[in-house]
Amino acid sequence: MVKIGILGVGTVGTSVAKILEENADIIEARAGKKIVVKSGVVKNINKDRGVSIKISDNPLDVVDDPEIDIVVELMGGVDEPYALVKKALENGKAVVTANKALLAYHRYELQEIAGDIPLMYEASTAGGIPIIGALRNGLSANHIDSIQGIMNGTCNYMLTNMINNGALYDDILKESQELGYAEADPTFDVGGFDASHKLLILASIAYGIDAKPEDILIEGIENITQTDVDFAKEFGYEIKSLGIAKKVGNGVELRVHATMIPSESMIAKVDGVMNAVTVVGDRVGETMYYGPGAGGDATASAVISDIVDIVRGNQGPMLGYKKGLESGLKLLSKDDISTQYYIRLEVEDHSGVLAAITSSLEEFGISIESMLQKPTQDEAIATLLFTTHTCKEKKMQEAITALGKLDVVSGEIAMMRIEK
Ligand code: HSE
Repeated sequence: MVKIGILGVGTVGTSVAKILEENADIIEARAGKKIVVKSGVVKNINKDRGVSIKISDNPLDVVDDPEIDIVVELMGGVDEPYALVKKALENGKAVVTANKALLAYHRYELQEIAGDIPLMYEASTAGGIPIIGALRNGLSANHIDSIQGIMNGTCNYMLTNMINNGALYDDILKESQELGYAEADPTFDVGGFDASHKLLILASIAYGIDAKPEDILIEGIENITQTDVDFAKEFGYEIKSLGIAKKVGNGVELRVHATMIPSESMIAKVDGVMNAVTVVGDRVGETMYYGPGAGGDATASAVISDIVDIVRGNQGPMLGYKKGLESGLKLLSKDDISTQYYIRLEVEDHSGVLAAITSSLEEFGISIESMLQKPTQDEAIATLLFTTHTCKEKKMQEAITALGKLDVVSGEIAMMRIEK
């Protein structure tokens, strides 16, 4: 019999305990051994969790319990779980964690500490989708050209409801929290940080990149306006918040931001709390993984898949490369990211204005792909919309600053990146 201790019996922890009990027969058949939850740790022991396991408020009751074989860490946060996971590994216990923030900051140290002891993390990325297993196992024959996807269920749930049903930002954020999708601090979701943690984990497996969230481009969904959603549709795009990892020569771009993607693409059709990740391998070509990215049972399903894997003895390097950084690939700076852009600006509507704008773009070597002019309620002001050919982020940022200084431009300039 294999005994589990759970650090953090919240939404996911409760689901883990329930599924291990309710699906015990099939799980035992697949793992080859009976798996039971011995105990769990919570902050508030007076709150009823609806599960019949021994509960304590002292994490050491799990981490130092010699009877516990596998510690499941579902606490969230970084420093406390780091200390506890480290101690559990030092005590010789296998660890399963769903904690993407912990891995975004400490994955390489934990890999070192773990050595040959299993440390698994399927639930850290894209909830119930087995994307970690796909990259570590299924695609292990491939050099990975790119990974692109919807990696935050809360953002996708919010965007879908705002765009398709006219839901208000605050209402739909509250609903995401009530449904158990959002992080304890939902700014992690809407600000793109949660997705960045997941992207960094995937980039470690694919490319051996040892970056932290601070090192990469991260933008949230807070500034998406209905105006840009409508214009995106006119250009044939949907707006999704994407995590993107892309190999360019010997460099890797890593970024999270609201993105215009062709309406007919498969990812454009992924709605609600669903996540979807596309991975392009040099031998397999394009593959796509789709499923619920958040929620108790979906995430618990991924946690239990790791437990079963450990019980079966399926091991291997925790991250993509045995020593972490064997790929020789380097993280590209934010300035060196290359993509296409959408720009929206309000301008005075008289002769010479368009020429001033286009010559400003030309100054920064930015080539226009398409352009649209729309009247506004103010006869003297027009909205100009551009999509550009691929250019460097640095050039685009400089161009936006320069455009903002032109007398004929009024108000904020909206910019969004395009991926085809
Ligand atoms: N808050 C996360 C999301 C949960 O919305 O995707 C899963 O990591």
